[in-house]
Amino acid sequence: MTFEPHTRDGDVIVAAKSGPLSGEVVVPGAKNSVLKLMAATLLADGQYVLTNVPVIEDVAIMADLLTAVGLQIEVQPARVGEVGQHLVIRNTGAITPVAPFELADRIRASVNLVGPLLGRFGHIDIALPGGDDFGGRPIDMHLRGLEAMGAQFDITSEGIVGHCAELRGAEIEFDFPSVGATENILMAAVVANGETTIRNAAREPEIVDLCTMLRAMGCRIQGIGTAILVITGVAAASLQAVTHEVVTDRVQAATYIAAVGMCGGSIRVQRANASHMGMMLTRFTDMGMRFDIDDDGITATAPEQLTAVNVSTLPYPGVATDYKPLVVAMLSLASGVGIVTENLYPGRFRYVEELRKLGADITIDGHHAVVRGVGHLHGASVIAPDIRAGATLVVAGLAASGITEVSDVFHIDRGYDDLVGRLAGLGASISRISGSPS
Ligand code: EPU
Repeated sequence: MTFEPHTRDGDVIVAAKSGPLSGEVVVPGAKNSVLKLMAATLLADGQYVLTNVPVIEDVAIMADLLTAVGLQIEVQPARVGEVGQHLVIRNTGAITPVAPFELADRIRASVNLVGPLLGRFGHIDIALPGGDDFGGRPIDMHLRGLEAMGAQFDITSEGIVGHCAELRGAEIEFDFPSVGATENILMAAVVANGETTIRNAAREPEIVDLCTMLRAMGCRIQGIGTAILVITGVAAASLQAVTHEVVTDRVQAATYIAAVGMCGGSIRVQRANASHMGMMLTRFTDMGMRFDIDDDGITATAPEQLTAVNVSTLPYPGVATDYKPLVVAMLSLASGVGIVTENLYPGRFRYVEELRKLGADITIDGHHAVVRGVGHLHGASVIAPDIRAGATLVVAGLAASGITEVSDVFHIDRGYDDLVGRLAGLGASISRISGSPS
């Protein structure tokens, strides 16, 4: 089936000065988890049910991609009392490990088909992954790890063709704890012959979520949540399909926290998992925010005035690069000067030009952004350059005087489930104007 996009060309989000915010927002499941969980269903036959699935474009694209290789996918609405939709995924074993280029090239997570398809079928033919443009986003660590397990690749400027007679366990040490490479090696290793050790593995909560589902399927993984994963391969035929709830999206949770930080007020961020956001919450606290944390979520209260801090992005448990545009926007309204250092994607500063249109004072020096608090932003027409920066511009627009119009909303739709409705539910003055049907 083809999943209906809900983005129309020319859609615009219109934000007006808002605040103080109040009320409750319920945070849905994480994009960067569900896309990998969907890929994992390639590993074993049977019927899977993923719950707490966010209604976002990247899920629709991944569903189309997996349908094209042979899975059967049905979307079911959330049950009473639940947040996200259900995905019912049926794997009959009739898989063709050739992914249509035009779909694979639209999302970064398409690269996560490489590990499971090679592991189970010994072949993969797929486009180089797309996704947000932060400058170069190589996949050398994915390929080197799989080569160490016995795979061979032909890479062209467009795509990857990989094959192997058999994948065997290997000792793999990453130069850097790459999220995608960890996931790919993991999903190949669970069905490889023998034991694989991944050193300097990424430890993000979304990787723990993937490991938890794989383990429920019968995969043998030790060291979950640590930098050393030890995986003992088992026969794919011994694995079983499962029902799994997607972990809460920590970046969407942080987006609502940043919104209240910038607009003032106090909100309940239901289902936010504070233990997955530790360093970020510490930095927000340093900026003057207050948090009451319990098992079901976080109550976030803004100070009268935010205070500038310095923030560096790092792999988990550090402050994630995906939070960074939000932090830069908050610092624009803080008292003092804050320096934000990007350690993952040197090119991830494209939104700065757009924030400047709102009156922000930001200077880029290499991989540092020097942000001088200006105390006041004003509305403007801006363009969303990617998912997180797009959401940041919407939130900054709520804190700006006058009207802010954010275009290229399709970026936001790739990763945010009803951002406009959720912000409106907190009392924000926000609406979406539909463009023409695409
Ligand atoms: N890298 C390499 N070689 C590789 C793999 C990565 O040099 O083979 C470099 C990258 O260029 C980057 C760094 O390592 O400089 C981190 O990349 P990583 O592989 O960890 O990121 P990813 O798997 O491509 C995921 C998320 C991103 C998020 C990053 C970092 C998905 C689909 N994407 O990307 O999310 O920023 O981890 O946490 O899971 C977003 O959601 O908006 C988003 C961009």
